[in-house]
Amino acid sequence: MRVMVTGANGQLGKCLQDVIAGLDHELIAVGRNELDITNASLVKRFVDAQTPDVIINAAAYTAVDRAEEEVELAFKVNAQAVGNLAEASNAAGAVLIHVSTDYVFDGSSRTPYKETDSVNPVGAYGESKLEGEREAAQAQRHIIVRTAWVFSEYGSNFLKTMVKLGLRRQSLSIVDDQIGTPTYAGDLASALVCLALNRPANGVYHFCGGDSCSWYDFAGAIFDTCGEISSKYAVPSISPIPSAEYPTPARRPEYSVLDGSLLVSKAGIRGGDWRVSLRDVCTKVLAELDDSQA
Ligand SMILES: NC(=O)c1ccc[n+]([C@@H]2O[C@H](COP(=O)([O-])OP(=O)(O)OC[C@H]3O[C@@H](n4cnc5c(N)ncnc54)[C@H](OP(=O)(O)O)[C@@H]3O)[C@@H](O)[C@H]2O)c1
Repeated sequence: MRVMVTGANGQLGKCLQDVIAGLDHELIAVGRNELDITNASLVKRFVDAQTPDVIINAAAYTAVDRAEEEVELAFKVNAQAVGNLAEASNAAGAVLIHVSTDYVFDGSSRTPYKETDSVNPVGAYGESKLEGEREAAQAQRHIIVRTAWVFSEYGSNFLKTMVKLGLRRQSLSIVDDQIGTPTYAGDLASALVCLALNRPANGVYHFCGGDSCSWYDFAGAIFDTCGEISSKYAVPSISPIPSAEYPTPARRPEYSVLDGSLLVSKAGIRGGDWRVSLRDVCTKVLAELDDSQA
């Protein structure tokens, strides 16, 4: 199978490269410098020349707060550019696997969201990603995977921010009234590669990384894990606060847990277990920080 990965330098893109490197597939991995997905003619020429069987789109505008100011750019990358990939996929006869977000929901539910539940994003990022789902659905063969709270050893994410903050601060206040599901980008990458092989029917599927929790719970697990890994890591004390005490430019859904059962029944793919991946990722992040301070 020839698999093309866009946004290859992001956290999902890097994990996809790691997963595919260990398998017997041809990988065409392109970051923004090699392929800006907002450039329609370039995308078409590149896909025509490379003839992939599957395109996995890991490229996105992911700055949730900044998107409130840069609405046009968010839509350009998260929606119009996905249309470019859909068109190029059609011309090349490729399957488009596109990644979307739990932030397409408004968070008013108190039970895990199913693929058929009504969408109603509360911010510009979620709106742009929802429009991207519609663009991806223009591909004759498309699989759209919504995921949530992605973390990894790569790029920037909540886990890496917490590990670094914990090194500088003795106490921290963390939001406790937003509930979601941390998802290890490596688990998501493995699931996407399985989808590239299994190719279930066109549509939207949910994938996330295990049991749900608040940001406060997630931070607590990160700090406890770092403390277990390294006796040098002084675990900070943390206090729960409501979102109202940590105002951000973008509103976020209070509850965005995704129900992953459709992916189990249609493709045999189970969600990950973020508590298992946590130790490995924290070990890598702490080692990288040690190296950078050496
Ligand atoms: N992170 C989360 O918590 C989260 C939660 C739910 C869903 N998701 C979705 O999961 C997917 C992967 O997210 P991620 O966390 O891996 O994101 P990420 O680390 O921010 O990576 C996104 C990548 O896309 C690249 N990119 C941006 N604009 C581009 C363009 N015009 N052309 C080509 N590449 C471009 C970025 O390049 P630069 O580095 O040059 O900017 C970056 O390498 C996205 O679809 C995201 O919406 C993420």
